[in-house]
Amino acid sequence: MERFYIKPEIYFTSSALEYLTTIESERALVITDPFMVQSGFIDKLTQVLASSVSEYEVFSNIKPDPPVEVVAEGVLKMLHLNPEIVIAFGGGSTIDAAKSIIALAQQLRGEGIKPKLIAIPTTSGTGSEVTSFSVITVGDKKVPMIDDNLIPDVAILDPRFVTTAPPIITADTGIDALTHAIEAYVSTGASDYTDALAEKAVRLIFDYLLTAYKDGSNIVAREKMHNASCIAGMAFTNAYLGINHSMAHALGGGFHISHGRANAILLPYVIRYNANLESDIETETAKRYAELARILHLPASSVSEGVHSLIYAVEILLKETKTPLTISELNISPEEYHQKLESMCDNALMDKCTGTNPRIPTKDDIRNIYLNAYGTHSK
Ligand SMILES: NC(=O)c1ccc[n+]([C@@H]2O[C@H](COP(=O)([O-])OP(=O)(O)OC[C@H]3O[C@@H](n4cnc5c(N)ncnc54)[C@H](O)[C@@H]3O)[C@@H](O)[C@H]2O)c1
Ligand SMILES: [Zn+2]
Repeated sequence: MERFYIKPEIYFTSSALEYLTTIESERALVITDPFMVQSGFIDKLTQVLASSVSEYEVFSNIKPDPPVEVVAEGVLKMLHLNPEIVIAFGGGSTIDAAKSIIALAQQLRGEGIKPKLIAIPTTSGTGSEVTSFSVITVGDKKVPMIDDNLIPDVAILDPRFVTTAPPIITADTGIDALTHAIEAYVSTGASDYTDALAEKAVRLIFDYLLTAYKDGSNIVAREKMHNASCIAGMAFTNAYLGINHSMAHALGGGFHISHGRANAILLPYVIRYNANLESDIETETAKRYAELARILHLPASSVSEGVHSLIYAVEILLKETKTPLTISELNISPEEYHQKLESMCDNALMDKCTGTNPRIPTKDDIRNIYLNAYGTHSK
């Protein structure tokens, strides 16, 4: 039995924040990160909120790749305030943290109605506002949790909140969204429903990411990228992901590389591995990548040409956004890399995203991809 599930109500465009004027609530907890407070964005939010809730508190301690310790702090806040509404206002780290905070507080309380989660993303990348995923960091391990109960109730996609994202964050998060769409498209969990979403997301990202990267104030490009990231999220929360994410989780956890950047560097190598053009038969996955190339109007007169065109297009996007093409460019020495290589391979193999990768990897496969992605000095 196959399933496609859509949950959150989605409000979008620059007037989306008006949704908050329609809620009526006694107590709300706003979960956010320090940047949203320093930038004054939080005031824009609380001004609107003040008209619709009697009491609210702001918890602004979220850090990127949210550590479990910060989640625990948030749980205490939740138990103390007992809010009816939680607003997660920030990037994927904030939204993921809010999901886990609500789930844990609910378990500890053991009773009562689950608060409504309103997610307001300020990056265009993770799609966390519509997904059943929450990625929490324990030590140097990133642990993805997947549960329908984690999906927010409402997503507010107001592109004005992304205009301050600097080019490096725009690039990393945008390529994260691209990775979501591409992985969902070739996942063993892909369906006609998720394909439609993934195809649209890929097209939007190739059409608008560079503009958003070069001119962060371009509201049209920001809105399109916000939609693309959300649409890719809807695709992968149903189709799931693959080893690009498993390996990025292990790499990012091991070396503190941002989630988007870790995914971006690995993407061409993972496409090459999954397509398996060296195989005697043309793989179904290679055909899927070639289909994406055709959708992007890239040269794809044969499956092999399509796969190469897609990889080339991704590499051009990485170069134009000044994203490194190898891990060695991140100032990680070969010694450090080799020291963590085996544990990264083990973590990637055990990661929940590996189960839906179109090609079942061995540990040697994962190791080879990591070595190739490191660059020439690794061998
Ligand atoms: N739940 C999911 O479905 C899902 C999917 C992919 C990734 N993730 C997780 O999400 C996290 C990454 O989230 P992210 O890439 O959105 O980054 P992030 O939330 O970690 O934020 C990165 C940095 O960008 C800053 N920032 C956020 N919005 C900004 C803005 N508008 N202007 C200026 N600075 C801004 C933040 O303050 C932070 O310093 C990782 O932990 C990753 O594993 C979750
Ligand atoms: Zn991702």
